[in-house]
Amino acid sequence: MIKLILVIVISFIIVLADPLFSIIPKLKIENKDKYNLGKKLFFDQNLSSSKSVACANCHIFELGGADGNRVSYGVYGKAGIINSPSIFNTKFNIAQDWVGECTTVKDRSKMAFLSKIEMAGDVKETLKYIKSNKSLNNLFQKVYNDFNGDNIFDAIAYYVEHLTTPNSRFDKFLQGDTKALNENEKKGYRLFKDYGCVSCHNGVNIGGNLYQKFGIFNKDEIKRDDNLGRYQITKKEYDKYVLKVPSLRNVSKTAPYMYNGRITKLKDVIKEMAKHQLGIDIPLKDILSIESFLKTLDGDIPND
Ligand code: HEC
Ligand code: HEC
Repeated sequence: MIKLILVIVISFIIVLADPLFSIIPKLKIENKDKYNLGKKLFFDQNLSSSKSVACANCHIFELGGADGNRVSYGVYGKAGIINSPSIFNTKFNIAQDWVGECTTVKDRSKMAFLSKIEMAGDVKETLKYIKSNKSLNNLFQKVYNDFNGDNIFDAIAYYVEHLTTPNSRFDKFLQGDTKALNENEKKGYRLFKDYGCVSCHNGVNIGGNLYQKFGIFNKDEIKRDDNLGRYQITKKEYDKYVLKVPSLRNVSKTAPYMYNGRITKLKDVIKEMAKHQLGIDIPLKDILSIESFLKTLDGDIPND
């Protein structure tokens, strides 16, 4: 009897906790100086060779941490090759890009800084610049004892890893506030699960935790470009056109969508996902309900 009660209680807890998803935790900033140093560097255009491109140029807070362009533009207006993903909640993703070349925020920060088409930065020059700038110099000395170039990226990564967006209406709903979503949004949530979107978009970031191929169904209708996805890293045939499944947190703000920014409207993405990832056509009213659900994933944008 006790066992039975235990099973019922545990099942109840599991159902309540909805283990497919979890909320964005509120993170405590243990080292405020390091955070402030990382923040200053993140927004500082002097880190780039042209003195005009900061990390924040391509990761704009008001645009959900993305940049609103189909592909990003770096130093001297050079066009990149891929769409900028959100800078928010990235510490919960398995990789720090679309294909899994970088797995840590620190590595990705360094890569963006060094990339000839992003910031084309120079570590020695940047250390000189930091020394010459009173407030940066003070903070750097306080946090690190030595002027090691690697610490630039250590500080930036520390800041970025604290850029989370808690308190979305969906998270409130997950925590038991049944009124946090309206009826249409709840319907969208059910459809998101029932149609199977959830098989790829789940976990704390509603995505970001696995690699999947784009274009499993209706392949003949897909116009491929020369981006071979994760194959570029692994050279394995089965990794052709495989990408990190993107997080859907704050997705209402991060248009245009997909690795190449080819779709501008969220409802068109949902239609395409159903067609090519699930092999189904879903009616417009269901698409609109799913869209309204996705909008409930907008959380608080960091503002300190
Ligand atoms: C010129 C635009 C541009 C600049 C400048 C830039 N980024 Fe990015 N960022 C991107 C693009 C594009 C990607 C996706 C890269 C890929 O998939 O190959 C990205 C990916 C990321 C990611 C991984 C997000 C995810 O979950 O996939 C992080 C973290 C990141 N950038 C941090 C930074 C930091 C820190 C800086 C400054 C040192 C920076 N970026 C500068 C465009 C930029
Ligand atoms: C088999 C895995 C899979 C399934 C199922 C799936 N997706 Fe995706 N989703 C992906 C991948 C991979 C991408 C990136 C595609 C690209 O960039 O070309 C993506 C991209 C997206 C994007 C764009 C995000 C961005 O920031 O660019 C949205 C929105 C989205 N999916 C929603 C959905 C919805 C809604 C469903 C259900 C109708 C769904 N997905 C089903 C794997 C999946």
